[in-house]
Amino acid sequence: MLTELLKADKKGLLRASDLIRNGQQVAFPTETVYGLGADARNNLAVAGIFKSKDRPKFNPLIIHFSDLALVEEYVNLNNFALQLAEAFWPGPLTLVCRLKKHTDLSSLATSGLDTVGVRIPSNKIALDFIKLCGIPIAAPSANLSGKISTTNSSDVINELGSIIPAVIEGGKSKIGLESTIIDVSDSVPILLRPGGLIIEDIQTVLGTITLKNQKKVLNSPGQLESHYAPETKMRLNASNKRSNEVLLGFGVSRADLNLSEKGDLTEAASNLFSQMRLIDNLAKKIGADCIAVSPIPQIGLGLALNDRLQRAAFRN
Ligand code: TXA
Ligand code: MG
Repeated sequence: MLTELLKADKKGLLRASDLIRNGQQVAFPTETVYGLGADARNNLAVAGIFKSKDRPKFNPLIIHFSDLALVEEYVNLNNFALQLAEAFWPGPLTLVCRLKKHTDLSSLATSGLDTVGVRIPSNKIALDFIKLCGIPIAAPSANLSGKISTTNSSDVINELGSIIPAVIEGGKSKIGLESTIIDVSDSVPILLRPGGLIIEDIQTVLGTITLKNQKKVLNSPGQLESHYAPETKMRLNASNKRSNEVLLGFGVSRADLNLSEKGDLTEAASNLFSQMRLIDNLAKKIGADCIAVSPIPQIGLGLALNDRLQRAAFRN
Protein backbone atom coordinates (compact mmCIF):
# COMPACT_ATOMS: atom_id res chain seq x y z
CA MET A 1 0.00 0.00 0.00
CA LEU A 2 1.36 3.42 -0.94
CA THR A 3 0.76 5.83 1.95
CA GLU A 4 -0.88 9.06 0.80
CA LEU A 5 0.58 12.29 2.18
CA LEU A 6 -2.49 14.54 2.43
CA LYS A 7 -2.31 18.33 2.51
CA ALA A 8 -4.20 19.88 5.40
CA ASP A 9 -6.48 21.78 2.98
CA LYS A 10 -10.18 21.19 2.37
CA LYS A 11 -9.57 18.45 -0.20
CA GLY A 12 -6.98 16.65 1.94
CA LEU A 13 -9.09 16.75 5.09
CA LEU A 14 -12.17 15.54 3.19
CA ARG A 15 -10.17 12.59 1.90
CA ALA A 16 -8.90 11.91 5.43
CA SER A 17 -12.39 11.98 6.92
CA ASP A 18 -13.71 9.71 4.14
CA LEU A 19 -11.01 7.17 4.98
CA ILE A 20 -11.88 7.36 8.69
CA ARG A 21 -15.59 6.94 8.00
CA ASN A 22 -14.72 3.86 5.92
CA GLY A 23 -12.98 2.26 8.89
CA GLN A 24 -9.44 3.13 7.77
CA GLN A 25 -6.60 4.72 9.71
CA VAL A 26 -5.16 8.18 9.16
CA ALA A 27 -2.12 9.62 10.92
CA PHE A 28 -2.61 13.27 11.85
CA PRO A 29 -0.59 16.02 13.52
CA THR A 30 -1.32 17.19 17.05
CA GLU A 31 0.57 19.72 19.18
CA THR A 32 2.04 16.83 21.22
CA VAL A 33 2.97 14.08 18.74
CA TYR A 34 1.39 12.65 15.57
CA GLY A 35 -1.56 10.35 16.29
CA LEU A 36 -2.74 7.27 14.39
CA GLY A 37 -6.48 7.86 14.23
CA ALA A 38 -9.46 5.63 13.56
CA ASP A 39 -13.23 5.67 14.26
CA ALA A 40 -13.42 5.07 18.03
CA ARG A 41 -16.85 3.45 17.66
CA ASN A 42 -15.72 0.81 15.18
CA ASN A 43 -14.05 -2.30 16.68
CA LEU A 44 -12.60 -3.36 13.34
CA ALA A 45 -11.11 0.08 12.67
CA VAL A 46 -9.60 0.16 16.17
CA ALA A 47 -8.22 -3.36 15.72
CA GLY A 48 -6.50 -2.01 12.61
CA ILE A 49 -4.58 0.48 14.79
CA PHE A 50 -3.21 -2.32 16.98
CA LYS A 51 -2.26 -4.32 13.89
CA SER A 52 -0.46 -1.40 12.20
CA LYS A 53 1.48 -0.55 15.36
CA ASP A 54 2.23 -4.21 15.99
CA ARG A 55 1.05 -3.69 19.56
CA PRO A 56 1.36 -6.96 21.45
CA LYS A 57 -1.64 -6.32 23.67
CA PHE A 58 -4.87 -4.43 23.47
CA ASN A 59 -4.45 -1.38 25.64
CA PRO A 60 -6.84 1.51 26.12
CA LEU A 61 -6.47 4.33 23.63
CA ILE A 62 -6.98 8.06 24.09
CA ILE A 63 -10.19 9.26 22.45
CA HIS A 64 -9.92 12.64 20.71
CA PHE A 65 -12.76 15.13 20.39
CA SER A 66 -13.19 18.56 18.82
CA ASP A 67 -15.47 20.04 21.48
CA LEU A 68 -16.55 19.68 25.08
CA ALA A 69 -20.23 19.02 24.35
CA LEU A 70 -19.28 15.84 22.50
CA VAL A 71 -16.92 14.76 25.28
CA GLU A 72 -19.84 15.05 27.71
CA GLU A 73 -21.93 12.69 25.60
CA TYR A 74 -19.41 9.98 26.42
CA VAL A 75 -18.03 10.61 29.90
CA ASN A 76 -19.03 12.10 33.24
CA LEU A 77 -16.93 15.13 34.07
CA ASN A 78 -16.69 15.75 37.81
CA ASN A 79 -15.59 19.08 39.31
CA PHE A 80 -11.87 18.36 38.93
CA ALA A 81 -12.37 17.32 35.33
CA LEU A 82 -14.39 20.44 34.55
CA GLN A 83 -11.84 22.74 36.18
CA LEU A 84 -8.95 21.15 34.30
CA ALA A 85 -10.87 21.00 31.02
CA GLU A 86 -11.76 24.67 31.28
CA ALA A 87 -8.19 25.66 32.07
CA PHE A 88 -6.30 23.47 29.60
CA TRP A 89 -8.52 22.31 26.72
CA PRO A 90 -7.90 22.44 23.88
CA GLY A 91 -4.38 21.36 24.77
CA PRO A 92 -1.86 18.69 25.82
CA LEU A 93 -3.95 17.17 28.61
CA THR A 94 -5.70 13.80 28.70
CA LEU A 95 -8.33 13.21 31.37
CA VAL A 96 -9.22 9.67 32.40
CA CYS A 97 -12.94 9.85 33.26
CA ARG A 98 -15.82 7.51 33.99
CA LEU A 99 -17.49 6.30 30.84
CA LYS A 100 -21.25 6.91 30.58
CA LYS A 101 -23.39 3.80 30.30
CA HIS A 102 -24.41 2.62 26.83
CA THR A 103 -22.07 4.71 24.71
CA ASP A 104 -21.20 3.53 21.22
CA LEU A 105 -17.43 3.48 21.89
CA SER A 106 -15.55 0.37 20.76
CA SER A 107 -14.75 -1.83 23.75
CA LEU A 108 -11.40 -2.51 22.11
CA ALA A 109 -10.59 1.22 22.28
CA THR A 110 -11.45 1.31 25.99
CA SER A 111 -10.09 -2.20 26.76
CA GLY A 112 -13.47 -2.89 28.26
CA LEU A 113 -12.73 -0.57 31.21
CA ASP A 114 -15.35 1.67 32.75
CA THR A 115 -13.01 4.65 32.41
CA VAL A 116 -11.55 6.23 29.30
CA GLY A 117 -8.86 8.80 28.44
CA VAL A 118 -10.27 11.78 26.54
CA ARG A 119 -8.60 14.82 25.06
CA ILE A 120 -9.31 17.88 22.91
CA PRO A 121 -6.07 18.74 21.08
CA SER A 122 -5.23 22.35 20.28
CA ASN A 123 -3.52 21.81 16.93
CA LYS A 124 -5.78 23.48 14.36
CA ILE A 125 -5.36 20.76 11.74
CA ALA A 126 -6.25 18.09 14.32
CA LEU A 127 -9.34 20.03 15.40
CA ASP A 128 -10.49 20.64 11.79
CA PHE A 129 -9.94 16.97 10.96
CA ILE A 130 -11.79 15.61 14.00
CA LYS A 131 -14.64 18.09 13.49
CA LEU A 132 -14.98 17.08 9.86
CA CYS A 133 -15.08 13.39 10.83
CA GLY A 134 -17.82 14.33 13.31
CA ILE A 135 -17.06 11.28 15.48
CA PRO A 136 -14.70 10.47 18.35
CA ILE A 137 -11.25 9.52 17.07
CA ALA A 138 -9.20 6.87 18.89
CA ALA A 139 -5.51 7.64 18.46
CA PRO A 140 -2.33 6.35 20.03
CA SER A 141 0.97 7.90 18.95
CA ALA A 142 1.79 7.14 15.30
CA ASN A 143 4.77 4.82 15.75
CA LEU A 144 5.49 1.11 15.94
CA SER A 145 4.87 -0.32 19.38
CA GLY A 146 7.74 0.30 21.79
CA LYS A 147 9.47 2.69 19.41
CA ILE A 148 9.95 6.44 19.43
CA SER A 149 6.87 8.65 18.95
CA THR A 150 6.70 10.70 15.76
CA THR A 151 6.69 14.49 15.60
CA ASN A 152 6.68 15.10 11.84
CA SER A 153 5.13 13.47 8.78
CA SER A 154 8.38 12.08 7.36
CA ASP A 155 9.07 10.17 10.58
CA VAL A 156 5.51 8.77 10.34
CA ILE A 157 6.15 7.67 6.75
CA ASN A 158 9.51 6.13 7.66
CA GLU A 159 7.83 4.23 10.48
CA LEU A 160 4.40 3.32 9.11
CA GLY A 161 4.66 4.06 5.36
CA SER A 162 3.10 1.28 3.28
CA ILE A 163 1.32 0.05 6.45
CA ILE A 164 -1.29 2.82 6.78
CA PRO A 165 -3.28 4.48 3.99
CA ALA A 166 -2.66 8.16 4.75
CA VAL A 167 -0.90 10.85 6.77
CA ILE A 168 -2.00 14.48 7.05
CA GLU A 169 0.92 16.88 6.63
CA GLY A 170 1.15 19.24 9.58
CA GLY A 171 4.81 20.19 10.02
CA LYS A 172 6.63 19.70 13.28
CA SER A 173 4.60 19.01 16.46
CA LYS A 174 4.87 22.18 18.52
CA ILE A 175 5.32 20.55 21.93
CA GLY A 176 6.92 17.24 20.96
CA LEU A 177 5.98 15.17 24.05
CA GLU A 178 2.73 13.27 24.58
CA SER A 179 -0.09 14.74 26.63
CA THR A 180 -0.01 14.74 30.42
CA ILE A 181 -2.50 12.12 31.65
CA ILE A 182 -4.54 12.81 34.80
CA ASP A 183 -7.00 10.30 36.21
CA VAL A 184 -10.01 12.25 37.44
CA SER A 185 -12.30 9.24 37.73
CA ASP A 186 -12.08 9.13 41.54
CA SER A 187 -12.14 11.51 44.46
CA VAL A 188 -8.48 12.56 44.14
CA PRO A 189 -6.82 13.45 40.82
CA ILE A 190 -3.86 11.20 39.98
CA LEU A 191 -0.97 11.85 37.60
CA LEU A 192 -0.66 8.79 35.34
CA ARG A 193 1.88 10.17 32.88
CA PRO A 194 3.90 13.41 32.94
CA GLY A 195 3.73 15.13 29.55
CA GLY A 196 3.41 18.31 27.57
CA LEU A 197 1.40 20.15 30.23
CA ILE A 198 3.61 20.89 33.23
CA ILE A 199 2.55 19.75 36.70
CA GLU A 200 3.21 23.19 38.17
CA ASP A 201 0.41 24.62 35.97
CA ILE A 202 -1.99 21.81 36.88
CA GLN A 203 -1.27 22.28 40.55
CA THR A 204 -2.15 25.99 40.26
CA VAL A 205 -5.64 25.08 39.08
CA LEU A 206 -6.12 22.35 41.70
CA GLY A 207 -5.12 24.76 44.48
CA THR A 208 -4.95 22.99 47.83
CA ILE A 209 -5.71 19.56 46.37
CA THR A 210 -2.36 17.85 45.83
CA LEU A 211 -2.04 15.83 42.67
CA LYS A 212 -1.20 12.25 43.58
CA ASN A 213 1.61 10.69 41.59
CA GLN A 214 0.93 7.10 40.76
CA LYS A 215 2.66 5.97 37.63
CA LYS A 216 1.90 2.32 37.13
CA VAL A 217 -1.81 1.92 37.22
CA LEU A 218 -2.18 0.07 33.96
CA ASN A 219 0.24 -2.25 32.30
CA SER A 220 0.06 -0.40 29.00
CA PRO A 221 2.87 0.60 26.62
CA GLY A 222 3.07 4.28 27.55
CA GLN A 223 3.60 3.12 31.11
CA LEU A 224 5.95 0.22 30.53
CA GLU A 225 9.49 0.68 31.75
CA SER A 226 10.97 0.06 28.34
CA HIS A 227 9.40 2.25 25.68
CA TYR A 228 10.39 4.91 23.16
CA ALA A 229 13.50 2.81 22.57
CA PRO A 230 16.23 3.54 20.02
CA GLU A 231 18.28 0.52 18.92
CA THR A 232 21.52 1.91 20.36
CA LYS A 233 21.82 1.76 24.12
CA MET A 234 21.73 4.99 26.11
CA ARG A 235 23.64 6.47 29.04
CA LEU A 236 21.75 9.22 30.86
CA ASN A 237 23.00 12.12 33.00
CA ALA A 238 26.29 12.03 31.11
CA SER A 239 28.57 14.93 31.96
CA ASN A 240 31.04 13.96 29.23
CA LYS A 241 31.23 12.00 26.00
CA ARG A 242 33.30 8.82 25.97
CA SER A 243 35.22 7.55 22.95
CA ASN A 244 32.61 4.98 21.90
CA GLU A 245 29.69 7.40 22.23
CA VAL A 246 27.65 10.02 20.45
CA LEU A 247 26.33 12.86 22.61
CA LEU A 248 22.76 14.15 22.70
CA GLY A 249 23.38 17.46 24.42
CA PHE A 250 21.39 19.81 26.61
CA GLY A 251 22.79 23.17 27.69
CA VAL A 252 26.21 22.35 26.24
CA SER A 253 27.80 23.66 23.07
CA ARG A 254 29.68 20.62 21.80
CA ALA A 255 27.36 17.73 21.06
CA ASP A 256 26.58 15.56 18.06
CA LEU A 257 23.01 16.77 18.30
CA ASN A 258 21.65 19.33 20.72
CA LEU A 259 18.21 19.15 22.33
CA SER A 260 18.75 22.78 23.29
CA GLU A 261 22.14 24.45 23.29
CA LYS A 262 20.89 27.19 25.59
CA GLY A 263 19.30 24.70 27.99
CA ASP A 264 15.69 25.57 27.18
CA LEU A 265 13.28 22.77 28.22
CA THR A 266 10.53 23.77 25.77
CA GLU A 267 12.96 23.66 22.86
CA ALA A 268 14.37 20.34 24.12
CA ALA A 269 10.89 18.79 24.34
CA SER A 270 10.08 19.77 20.77
CA ASN A 271 13.33 18.16 19.57
CA LEU A 272 13.48 15.02 21.71
CA PHE A 273 11.80 12.34 19.60
CA SER A 274 13.06 13.46 16.18
CA GLN A 275 16.61 13.82 17.52
CA MET A 276 16.47 10.41 19.21
CA ARG A 277 15.74 8.93 15.79
CA LEU A 278 18.50 10.96 14.14
CA ILE A 279 21.14 10.19 16.74
CA ASP A 280 20.27 6.48 16.71
CA ASN A 281 20.92 6.51 12.94
CA LEU A 282 24.12 8.50 13.42
CA ALA A 283 25.41 6.06 16.05
CA LYS A 284 24.74 3.12 13.73
CA LYS A 285 26.38 4.93 10.80
CA ILE A 286 29.62 5.76 12.56
CA GLY A 287 29.71 2.60 14.69
CA ALA A 288 29.24 4.25 18.10
CA ASP A 289 27.78 1.78 20.60
CA CYS A 290 26.16 4.19 23.03
CA ILE A 291 24.16 7.42 23.07
CA ALA A 292 25.23 9.66 25.97
CA VAL A 293 22.62 12.22 27.06
CA SER A 294 23.36 15.38 29.06
CA PRO A 295 21.60 15.79 32.43
CA ILE A 296 18.20 17.49 32.26
CA PRO A 297 16.81 19.33 35.28
CA GLN A 298 13.80 17.69 36.94
CA ILE A 299 11.48 20.74 36.76
CA GLY A 300 8.66 21.77 34.40
CA LEU A 301 8.87 19.86 31.12
CA GLY A 302 12.04 18.21 32.47
CA LEU A 303 9.80 15.71 34.30
CA ALA A 304 8.33 14.39 31.07
CA LEU A 305 11.67 14.61 29.22
CA ASN A 306 13.41 12.52 31.91
CA ASP A 307 10.49 10.09 32.04
CA ARG A 308 10.75 9.41 28.28
CA LEU A 309 14.57 9.19 28.41
CA GLN A 310 14.49 6.71 31.30
CA ARG A 311 12.09 4.46 29.41
CA ALA A 312 14.20 4.78 26.25
CA ALA A 313 17.35 3.83 28.19
CA PHE A 314 15.76 0.93 30.08
CA ARG A 315 16.83 -2.50 28.91
CA ASN A 316 15.18 -5.67 30.11
O1 TXA B 1 -0.31 13.23 23.26
C1 TXA B 1 -0.90 12.14 23.30
O2 TXA B 1 -1.48 11.75 24.32
C2 TXA B 1 -0.88 11.29 22.01
C3 TXA B 1 -1.65 12.07 20.93
C4 TXA B 1 -1.81 11.31 19.67
O3 TXA B 1 -2.89 12.49 21.46
N1 TXA B 1 -1.45 9.97 22.25
C5 TXA B 1 -0.82 9.03 22.99
O4 TXA B 1 -1.48 7.81 23.04
O5 TXA B 1 0.22 9.21 23.57
P1 TXA B 1 -0.83 6.45 23.55
O6 TXA B 1 -1.70 5.34 23.10
O7 TXA B 1 0.59 6.35 23.12
O8 TXA B 1 -0.96 6.52 25.10
C6 TXA B 1 -2.22 6.29 25.68
C7 TXA B 1 -2.09 6.08 27.14
C8 TXA B 1 -1.92 4.62 27.48
O9 TXA B 1 -0.57 4.34 27.75
C9 TXA B 1 -2.75 4.45 28.71
O10 TXA B 1 -1.88 4.36 29.81
C10 TXA B 1 -3.53 5.73 28.88
O11 TXA B 1 -3.35 6.45 27.73
N2 TXA B 1 -4.96 5.43 29.06
C11 TXA B 1 -5.95 5.42 28.17
N3 TXA B 1 -7.11 5.08 28.72
C12 TXA B 1 -6.86 4.87 30.04
C13 TXA B 1 -7.65 4.48 31.15
N4 TXA B 1 -8.95 4.21 31.06
N5 TXA B 1 -7.03 4.38 32.34
C14 TXA B 1 -5.71 4.65 32.46
N6 TXA B 1 -4.92 5.01 31.43
C15 TXA B 1 -5.48 5.12 30.24
MG1 MG C 1 2.73 5.95 22.45
